[in-house]
Amino acid sequence: MALVVLSSLEAVATWVAGAIDEQVRQKPASVLGLPAGGTPQPVYAELVRRHREEGLSFAHTSAFGLDEYVGLPSGHPASFRQVVEQAFYRHVDLPVARIHSPDIAAPDLAAASARYEQAIADAGGLDLVVLGIGLNGHVAFNEPGSALDSRTRLVELAAGTRRANAAAFPHEPVPARAVTMGLGTILAARSCLLMACGAGKAPIVARLSESALPAGQVWRSHPRATLVLDQAAASQLPPD
Ligand code: PGA
Repeated sequence: MALVVLSSLEAVATWVAGAIDEQVRQKPASVLGLPAGGTPQPVYAELVRRHREEGLSFAHTSAFGLDEYVGLPSGHPASFRQVVEQAFYRHVDLPVARIHSPDIAAPDLAAASARYEQAIADAGGLDLVVLGIGLNGHVAFNEPGSALDSRTRLVELAAGTRRANAAAFPHEPVPARAVTMGLGTILAARSCLLMACGAGKAPIVARLSESALPAGQVWRSHPRATLVLDQAAASQLPPD
């Protein structure tokens, strides 16, 4: 349950990219769990810079997307695979065969979810999962009330989550369902980084140390979980 508070979004991005850099240099065949969303975007920019300028290679790394909307055609710009593709995958040397996302086109999403868990296991298990935090305390698309032992599965999105993500869907409704890694999947990873930036996240961050919110549960239950905040997101934390 480590906490790191840094001065700015840029400092958080550099810190998180540095942790991923260290993980991948120590173990080139690392298995990463990677988020979409706005918060990680500068992390990906920093990883791409390190790839281009500092020899950081992902040639032996595997990546598993945390979650994906159900109902979007492959290649939809708001799909989480595309978001991470545009920010990261296409700019680095991570082999496409080792880039994984939940198969939301499968006719049987329960079977596809089980296959996703098996693919993670076959890759050797997740070494490092990077997580944003939703305004309601979700991680990946595990909304409040998700079971601690949940695994990759089909979920309904909370109304607030759909509102928060509406900007990515100017011409159509935000999908109502998604496939997400479960809290159990995330807790089984060898380490976790949770990141939150900006004043908008301050109220939810302030509740993480005591609540049953998914982000708080991961942070408190996982033996190697670090919460990385900028000062704005940390501004309503209760005093120690
Ligand atoms: P954000 O999303 O990084 O765009 O704020 C976080 C989340 O909803 O998990």
